Amino acid sequence: MTEDNQYRFLKACRGEPTDITPIWFMRQAGRYMKAYRDLKEKYSFLELCKNSELATEVTLQPLEVLGVDAAIIFADILLPLEPMGTGLEFTAGDGPVIPRPVKNQKDIEKLRPVNAEEDLEFVGDAIRQVRKEISGKMPLIGFAGAPFTLCSYMIEGGKSRDFTTTKLMMFETPELWGLLMDKVCIMLVDYLTMQVKAGAQALQIFDSWVGCMSPQDYKRYIMPYTQRIISRLKETGVPIINFTTGTSTLLDSVSEAGGDVISFDWRINIDDAWEKIGHDRSIQGNLDPTLLFAPIPIIRERVHDIMKRVGGRSGHIFNLGHGILQHTPVDHVKAVVDMVHEYKHE
Ligand code: CP3
Repeated sequence: MTEDNQYRFLKACRGEPTDITPIWFMRQAGRYMKAYRDLKEKYSFLELCKNSELATEVTLQPLEVLGVDAAIIFADILLPLEPMGTGLEFTAGDGPVIPRPVKNQKDIEKLRPVNAEEDLEFVGDAIRQVRKEISGKMPLIGFAGAPFTLCSYMIEGGKSRDFTTTKLMMFETPELWGLLMDKVCIMLVDYLTMQVKAGAQALQIFDSWVGCMSPQDYKRYIMPYTQRIISRLKETGVPIINFTTGTSTLLDSVSEAGGDVISFDWRINIDDAWEKIGHDRSIQGNLDPTLLFAPIPIIRERVHDIMKRVGGRSGHIFNLGHGILQHTPVDHVKAVVDMVHEYKHE
């Protein structure tokens, strides 16, 4: 273990040169791993999240197996919805369900202010425990949902295809949309600041579904809020990763919203994306997660293509464009780590 193992990821976040390209995976802990499935026989997903010993164990599961350069705390973007009062359930197969979605002004007014130190103490505890285990080996990433993606769950009551109810709130009652986004932003700044105090060394903000927006509506209804939380979080001093998917045509605005690192999916070539984002920013991405099911030579071709397009420029963190899918072969994930670490730029 060299000193660079410990800092490679954080250096790349800041655009500094690294010995080799750092790599980690979204959803690197989860159902594609046997150790995780074994725990799931005994505990529900929410039990794993809320018990800091178990969340610590799950966070650590993939680290040595894969040889990645960063850990991400095991939690979920939807956890703050419980203390806010909408409820939160995970049903097998259907994903998350929010039993009391936010429909009108009264519902928004009823939302409770969150005190992350108390209401989400288990996340802070897990961060403290993971840091004890991995200090000196690799950094730990904390995270939360972005204002839009969180509000979409709160309004739709679960995952949505078209986001009709969410968009109608923006278009028809922009003042209500603003009221809800304001409340969520206050919660997010408090929650993410708490994570840094507990020991998170970088923060990722997941705007997973924002690619459903038109460029002008992204700018009008979403960008100002993402911008606000990212600028408030600058005080924490840790690098911030602004993650979105489906945003090939929005990347200039996503980049304007802020973040030391912009993370995007596979629907755009990585060099074209960096051009749009601006080379003064670091980037993260962008392998298609389904490629991990392909035979190794095909994976290698695509990994090398990404590395070649980046051309050794400082500030690239290798990742998938979105999370690891459920039945992904673990040895293929591990193979990608080795391909990236062993790659030599010409
Ligand atoms: O990356 C990591 O390893 C950290 C853990 C993590 C989870 N969720 C664990 C999880 C992170 C960073 C998240 C973020 C998250 N959660 C997002 C943003 C990232 C993305 O994927 O877009 C979103 C949209 C959620 C909400 C959520 N949680 C959904 C839609 C689901 C269902 C997914 C499905 O395929 O069923 C979850 C559940 C969830 N979160 C699981 C895990 C490991 C699966 C739970 C299980 O074991 O059944």
